[in-house]
Amino acid sequence: MEKTIDESIQGSATMLNTNLAAEKFSNGKKLYLESYGCQMNFSDSEIVASILTDKGFSTTRNAEEADVILMNTCSIRENAEQRVRNKLSQYNKRKKQNPSLVIGVLGCMAERLKDSLLEQEKLVDLVAGPDSYRDLPNLIEEVESGQKAVNVLLSREETYADISPVRLGSGGVTAFISIMRGCDNMCSFCVVPFTRGRERSRDPKSIVQEASDLFDQGYREVTLLGQNVDSYKWNITKKGEIINPDEPVVTFANLMEKVALVNPDLRIRFSTSHPKDMIDDVLHVMAKYENICDYIHLPVQSGNTEVLKKMNRGYTREWYMNRIDAIKRIIPEAAISTDIITGFCGETDEQHKDTLTLMSEVGYDFAYMFFYSERPKTLAERKFEDDIPEATKKQRLYEVQELQAELSLASNKKAVGKTYKVLIEGISKRSDEEVYGRNSQNVTTIFAKDDYKPGDYVNVKITDYTSATLRGIAVKA
Ligand code: SAH
Ligand code: SF4
Ligand code: F3S
Repeated sequence: MEKTIDESIQGSATMLNTNLAAEKFSNGKKLYLESYGCQMNFSDSEIVASILTDKGFSTTRNAEEADVILMNTCSIRENAEQRVRNKLSQYNKRKKQNPSLVIGVLGCMAERLKDSLLEQEKLVDLVAGPDSYRDLPNLIEEVESGQKAVNVLLSREETYADISPVRLGSGGVTAFISIMRGCDNMCSFCVVPFTRGRERSRDPKSIVQEASDLFDQGYREVTLLGQNVDSYKWNITKKGEIINPDEPVVTFANLMEKVALVNPDLRIRFSTSHPKDMIDDVLHVMAKYENICDYIHLPVQSGNTEVLKKMNRGYTREWYMNRIDAIKRIIPEAAISTDIITGFCGETDEQHKDTLTLMSEVGYDFAYMFFYSERPKTLAERKFEDDIPEATKKQRLYEVQELQAELSLASNKKAVGKTYKVLIEGISKRSDEEVYGRNSQNVTTIFAKDDYKPGDYVNVKITDYTSATLRGIAVKA
């Protein structure tokens, strides 16, 4: 099966690198960019590519011919960081043969590991945090003049609103649009508020303009990105004070509606919703517009209220189930996915079982599942003991994964016989005769290519399924 973008959101390392067409002018230097972690990091890499190609760099898919190697890193779990270290060691071997090679770390490992990466392990020449990408051309110059270069300052304002991202890696059909940065939630297990700083929303005009430009370039799906999209707000402070009385206030529901109105043939997705903030307004806008996909990612993390409290998630099991009921009532066709953490500090067997029962009660269509990995500086690291043995964490993860495999299979089985509108994203990797895309519910669907091409919408009647994919035949009008 094709790896969907959503599969690469959480933790799995995927490379983003591309050959861009000839640039306005060239400085003769080649940039190799590699991204790890969530969609936000992938979206940021496109901003980095834009900033550096404006300065004359061209990008390459081949690390061996690069003058500058930048790794956009993730800190969410320990193994994410370990993967980056291994890769950095490999690139350092190359530097022995080519001492002018510049190696840099961007993204979420920057702030936490700058000293260690630059000074102790001497793995990199340059470290830039998520809010300092405009400074990259200067930082690279500093390195070329023989110094180590660091900028990990986090900003309260930076949203890169005016930068038009260079689209990397996508097939020209789907694209990400960052609508906000940072996170103020302080879930006790999570490192993101430390690596990405305070939450701030981007000007809605620049978001709508970006969506409209993408549509004109042939894109047919945009995913609006933020760590907690439900708390998107423009022209109003966190305390509820209006900033400019002559301008309208824009909430996430308003923003989604504006983007949906760009064109009925532009599909809208968004990630991530937070159960404590997801209000019915958002669901009503989803129900109103056919081009807003019937898919909602609503991470629960645990099915037990005590554990949720320790996680500082701001909701109970009952509140979460109330939100699920609202989704099912307002958008009956919606697919629902989640994130789950097993073996959080002090989690008992009973509490773990609550996660399993919640999963069955919701009947998730899809889930991203992890075992707890303690992260430095987080509330959990400071307040609770990471006391669940690794074997238990993994056993619980296995149980959660087994249950989800059954639920996903059951969900896809229900699709058989139904017809879905699928947006074609590309030619199947397994066969030139087949194309793949996703239905509104975000399930990858494969069918015969015929004369179809990426970017086409096709109604597909489902004939077969696995836990991860649907197969079907095109229904001709
Ligand atoms: N902003 C999103 C999630 C971002 S991180 C949200 O609030 O839902 C993506 C997922 O990684 C989280 O939902 C969580 O399930 C997982 N995760 C975060 N920190 C983790 C940790 N310390 N150990 C294991 N999984 C973690
Ligand atoms: Fe992390 Fe919680 Fe913010 Fe998500 S909402 S990024 S889990 S602190
Ligand atoms: Fe990782 Fe940073 Fe995203 S820690 S999950 S890349 S916000």
